[in-house]
Amino acid sequence: MALPDTERILLGPGPSLIPPRVLRAMAAPVLSHLDPDFIPLLHEVGSSLRRLFRADDKALALATSGTGTSAMEAAVANVVADGMRGVVIVTGYFGDRLAQIFERYGATVRRIDVEWGRAVDPQRLRDELRREGADVVGMVHAETSTGVRNPIKELAAIVREHGAISIVDTVTSLGGHEVDLAGWGVDVAYSCAQKCVGAPSGIAPIAVAGPARHRLVKCRSFYLDLKLLEDYWVSSKYHHTLCTSLVYALREALLMIDEEGLEARWARHERHHHALAAGLDAMGLSLLPPAGERLWTLNTVRVPAGVDEAAVRRTLLNSFNIEVGAGLGPLSGKIWRVGLMGASSTHQTLLQFLAALEEALVLSGHPVPSGAGVAAASAALRPQLANA
Ligand SMILES: Cc1ncc(COP(=O)(O)O)c(C=O)c1O
Repeated sequence: MALPDTERILLGPGPSLIPPRVLRAMAAPVLSHLDPDFIPLLHEVGSSLRRLFRADDKALALATSGTGTSAMEAAVANVVADGMRGVVIVTGYFGDRLAQIFERYGATVRRIDVEWGRAVDPQRLRDELRREGADVVGMVHAETSTGVRNPIKELAAIVREHGAISIVDTVTSLGGHEVDLAGWGVDVAYSCAQKCVGAPSGIAPIAVAGPARHRLVKCRSFYLDLKLLEDYWVSSKYHHTLCTSLVYALREALLMIDEEGLEARWARHERHHHALAAGLDAMGLSLLPPAGERLWTLNTVRVPAGVDEAAVRRTLLNSFNIEVGAGLGPLSGKIWRVGLMGASSTHQTLLQFLAALEEALVLSGHPVPSGAGVAAASAALRPQLANA
């Protein structure tokens, strides 16, 4: 079978499209992970990641070798020890995964379970911590399974008031939504490369705020031990053979973020989300979370009654070369997950998607007003395009 030679329009929950510049960076000659010419690149990536997370100057920022789950596990493995009291806010699939990892590392976990499709009310965390306290609290900023954004600023402040340490999943927000480690007082956050950052998966950013560094525990995992990883990232002491080509890619993606400007990048994601929402609304479709709790990066669209969810996805993929995601767990068959992240968050991809979705719905026997989605989204985008 031949390798793909047309670009899929990646509008699922990740990976997102990778800019050609980032792909080309990976074709640069391989340097070893300890090459004196490579080390400055590594240091540059560490500093850029610190800025991307908006972490303080004393923060540790690096990337684990692996996907988002490797950084997720690293966060927990370096913070949680046997017998710690953990609280995990579970607003969907990835909150549940975080709770499972807490348990694997020996925490006794109390879950704050929230209906899928809704953000947590911070009062629930306040009540839980007042009732019993906690050593560590885990939460997901951007819940990719439901399209919900949790109010991390408020939640992190509550965790601080109670003297616990916070671990925040920013896998679907970093580079697309505001993330402000220092400003929000978050202790540990992790992410991935393949969504809003714009690089391939396989290398995953993580940051530990300066004031939280002394609270790291002896890590049970050798591979994910942040102290050993710091020895490599900062002092060039061999730990494992980092894939330098992935570091090239991540560096290029981070350069592109700097060139665009972080605030401008958040605004781009916000703009395209609102244009999508306007287009869907004009087509008679709706998003799962209430306005105000929605992600800009990952949109969960309710499947209309009587429509075969999988058939629509198949048409989008086979006839329009567009990938969108299916629902997970209890939302399986009920939603489509449409990612507008990184290089996938453009007016072109958005208008293509709405036109293709209209056709896929018509083919599945669910007519929608002809051209209404594209027209509404175009109207929302017009002021911006007129200024371009
Ligand atoms: C919120 C969230 N956390 C963690 C992960 C795990 O990341 P990965 O699949 O890169 O291991 C994902 C993946 O989509 C995610 O969306």
